[in-house]
Amino acid sequence: MTEAKPKILVAAPLPADLAARLAEAADVWEASFQEVARAVEEKDPRLGEIEGVLGTIFVKMDEAFFAQTPKLKVASNFAVGFDNITVPAATKRGILVCNTPGVLDNAVADLTIAMLLGLARGIAANDQFVRTGAWAKGPAPLTHDLRGRTLGLLGMGRIGRVVAKTAQAFDLKVIYHKPSRDSALEAEGIASYVERDELFRQADFLSVHCPANEATRRSIGTREFALMKPSALFINTARGAIVDEAALVQALKDGSIAGAALDVMEVEPIDAAHPLCQLPNVLLQPHVGSATEETRRAMIDLAVQNLLDALAGRQPAAVVNRELLAAAQ
Ligand code: DGY
Repeated sequence: MTEAKPKILVAAPLPADLAARLAEAADVWEASFQEVARAVEEKDPRLGEIEGVLGTIFVKMDEAFFAQTPKLKVASNFAVGFDNITVPAATKRGILVCNTPGVLDNAVADLTIAMLLGLARGIAANDQFVRTGAWAKGPAPLTHDLRGRTLGLLGMGRIGRVVAKTAQAFDLKVIYHKPSRDSALEAEGIASYVERDELFRQADFLSVHCPANEATRRSIGTREFALMKPSALFINTARGAIVDEAALVQALKDGSIAGAALDVMEVEPIDAAHPLCQLPNVLLQPHVGSATEETRRAMIDLAVQNLLDALAGRQPAAVVNRELLAAAQ
């Protein structure tokens, strides 16, 4: 008798070869993130049967979700961030949470530097300047050099490290703050550590590279923007939830800071009527830090492999709640 395949929920875009691979190994229920939310709300009995989930950051996996998935063994996120998952609730139930670290560092760091350059050199504004015919009426406003200025990084993980290294090519002085110092990085001369308030005070460009969690949620607000130089630029390619968006809008309006480049927002997709979309000193991107063909392929490869490994009882390469692995040994 052939063994029944495990049932899995797939709420992430899959290339055809990986869809076929998953269909071979499992009985697949495909759903959009909105359909997953509806299934939870309506207590869809299919949730009770699934052993694995492959999801994006839009798939909310919280207490309510896990309460309906008693057979779930693994929640594999197609992202390095996992703020869509209530990890303690998963851990309590012995559910492995997996993510995709490492493979997107370069792509996100590239976008961070591109947004910094784009904002400092007025690239989006100058594009409009040319297209609207404003050029015929006079020269474009002058912009700003990067060289010799100070880049402050809040958070210094894998992505922050690549940003810091890339910044050296622009002769930027890099300072950073995170809860625990990175002495190896400091020994390499890539960045120097400063206290949190000093980071906001000294940075000409402040870029966010920490995860969104209970400790960081809305941790950058009026107080932090008031510490910054009026000429400073704020860049966020991490998570919108780390920033108090109303305070950011106010800081941009009253000149506490000069501009912001944001790939992430508190609510995504952001409403086009949102004040951030109306301000001229803001450069916006639709959460595309990792969105290159090569990087997204590497991410989905890893996310699918994590899922298959966990279902087969093998140790996945990227586990968030590693304490479960220790407990299993
Ligand atoms: C990540 O991997 O966390 C990205 O922000 C999602 O695209």
